[in-house]
Amino acid sequence: MKNKFIFFLTFGLLLTGCGSSDLNHNFAPTPPMGWNSWNKFGCGISDQLIRQIADAMVTTGMKDAGYQYVTLDDCWQLPVRQNGHLAANPETFPNGIKSLADYLHAKGLKLGIYSDRGRFTCEKKAGSYNYENTDARDFADWGVDFVKYDNCNAAAFSDQTEDYKRMRECLNNSGRPIVFSVCAWGFQDWMPGIGDLWRTTGDITDKWSRIVELVDTNEQYASYSSPSHWNDPDMLEVGNDGMTDVEYRSQFNLWSIMAAPLIAGNDLRHMSKTTLETLTNKEVIDVDQDPLGQQGTQVESNGHGLLVYMKNLSDANVKAVVLFNRTDWGSPITVHWKAMGLADGKANVRDLWLHKDLGEFNNSFKSYVPSHGVVMIKVTSSNP
Ligand code: GLA
Repeated sequence: MKNKFIFFLTFGLLLTGCGSSDLNHNFAPTPPMGWNSWNKFGCGISDQLIRQIADAMVTTGMKDAGYQYVTLDDCWQLPVRQNGHLAANPETFPNGIKSLADYLHAKGLKLGIYSDRGRFTCEKKAGSYNYENTDARDFADWGVDFVKYDNCNAAAFSDQTEDYKRMRECLNNSGRPIVFSVCAWGFQDWMPGIGDLWRTTGDITDKWSRIVELVDTNEQYASYSSPSHWNDPDMLEVGNDGMTDVEYRSQFNLWSIMAAPLIAGNDLRHMSKTTLETLTNKEVIDVDQDPLGQQGTQVESNGHGLLVYMKNLSDANVKAVVLFNRTDWGSPITVHWKAMGLADGKANVRDLWLHKDLGEFNNSFKSYVPSHGVVMIKVTSSNP
């Protein structure tokens, strides 16, 4: 009888995790910006690589443009816990995670790390199931600032919402402000209550057709976007060679108009001038980071792949606009003030890639847009 009682008590305590119902989170008032190892390097990561990426983030001007989190995705850890703790692979991360965090912090950057709600990660490394409290405390002790929490190899009979909730509570209880990135490959209602950001889609690939799919899926959840609550259509592929520079620029503009997290996924040590220009366009980044936190949506479409997206900004007189050509031919696209909720009449237009005021336009603005390309502007009305 006594044994039974102890069993149930222990089991109950284990599954209540941190014994707290504190789910508040406001650690990402604007969409997180940074870099993640997965898209380019997969499991081929090491302490040396990550330090070089951090160095490049500073020397290339990425840090000055706003990028701050450097995130180790899957494969930093061993397949088996060591004395009950997640452990960095000693061959690839011989200095341990704390030393890496110190290195990043000394540069004014932040460390992100990856774990999984299951017993194992997607790459069969040790996961956090049933060790949420231990892991959250270790992350906090090491100086981790961001946790991406994946959805592979869930324990039998475990509940997805409860698993994510437990980790959020444990992170909150750790006493360190840690951004929680829910990675469960599609939107569910519980996510905005638990994550600072959550994946609305399956994994990205470095392919144009996939970008278009992710934009369409992510758009369905636009109303859930607000400060510290971000829809995440997955990371950037800009500079990874599977698409053209025009297409990469489109991904960057579309992610920005959608207030998506801007997590670069390319090799920052070897970037073309165009890739760097795309990733560090301050005027576009400012649209992404606007404190109002609204996700832009489609306001006009010709029904055949010529689209206009609009994002409200904290200044109600100003709208950010993306003219988006999905077709295989270049074409003009027009945005009408009325479609954006602005009054007809005169408004000023600024091109965010030419970095130039284009002048005053009456009722609408029209521009040629290349195939798979975008034109991004700001429209300032004097009589909204
Ligand atoms: C899942 C995630 C990816 C990446 C891999 C790592 O597929 O969605 O973003 O983290 O796992 O194994």
